[in-house]
Amino acid sequence: MTKQIELIEVGPRDGLQNEPSPITTEDKVTLVNLLSEAGFSTIEVTSFVSPKWVPQLADAHQVMTQINRKKAIRYIVLTPNQRGYDGAIAADADEIAIFAAATETFSQKNINCSIEESLARFEPVLAQARARNLPVRGYISCVVGCPYEGDVAPEAVTYIADWMLARGCYEISLGDTIGCGTPQTISALLDRLTADIPAKLLAGHYHDTNGRAIENVMTSINFGLRRFDSAIAGLGGCPFAPGAKGNVSTNALHNALSEAGWHTGLDADRLSDAAEFISRLVTPR
Ligand code: HMG
Ligand code: MG
Repeated sequence: MTKQIELIEVGPRDGLQNEPSPITTEDKVTLVNLLSEAGFSTIEVTSFVSPKWVPQLADAHQVMTQINRKKAIRYIVLTPNQRGYDGAIAADADEIAIFAAATETFSQKNINCSIEESLARFEPVLAQARARNLPVRGYISCVVGCPYEGDVAPEAVTYIADWMLARGCYEISLGDTIGCGTPQTISALLDRLTADIPAKLLAGHYHDTNGRAIENVMTSINFGLRRFDSAIAGLGGCPFAPGAKGNVSTNALHNALSEAGWHTGLDADRLSDAAEFISRLVTPR
């Protein structure tokens, strides 16, 4: 049996959304094109969000329409509301991602509304996506800890995961937004979630603030998860989660998984090319 793990590259979106130096549209396009050569089947390119809130991604339409798209790759964008959905459709996104939070305060800080209000905004977006057969990924932030409210109970995550899956999300990406997760807290979460939800419907999205993201991936593999988000060169963070660092580095995760006998299908040299390219452009951390 092949030991296959799929990495979803989120660097162009999660990595760059928090980057203080302006990155040109041309450089973003080059980054996505380099990543398209590395063997991913899914790349998260950008977000159709308010340019006042996330100025770095104001060129979402230009990036999406200027990249060289490969047929074998699904290019995803984030959509917080109807306007974001309209932007995704205009840019011919292959897939969209909606994003909610497990805590009220993070929901307010991130998308300026309560959890219930965010779900109400997603409802028509999900209905339209279903009508078009457009795949929707559902993100949940702060799955084990919140920068404002501290520890998060697994039940808060289960509620939103069930809501999203019932309305057609094909997968829930579990966001450890501030990278506070440990093998213990991730296990407690997955123990609860996998009691009701098949592991194949769950993905891990672990930020690496405390350097434990790879351990958390390995822990999640033991619960049956096989899909993980990662960012080239470990770029990123969330502008609305103070102190949050980047996602687990794609390069480092690929290496760790390969050493453990897992196949990602990624080309390490092409990953290095992309990492070198973007590392020269972002603010050193
Ligand atoms: P709002 O201010 O509450 O909403 O924004 P609004 O409807 O009152 O709109 C305000 C202005 O934004 C208006 O413009 C709208 O037209 C415009 P104005 O009239 O003032 O000129 N607007 C938009 N513009 C472009 N695209 C749109 C859009 N919607 C409204 N889609 C909103 C609500 C959600 C839009 C805002 O709060 C926002 O954009 N927030 C940014 C959220 C974000 O990108 N967060 C980071 C991504 S999530 C993340 O990183 C976590 C994740 O990685 C998982 C994890 O790690 O946990 C996924
Ligand atoms: Mg994130």
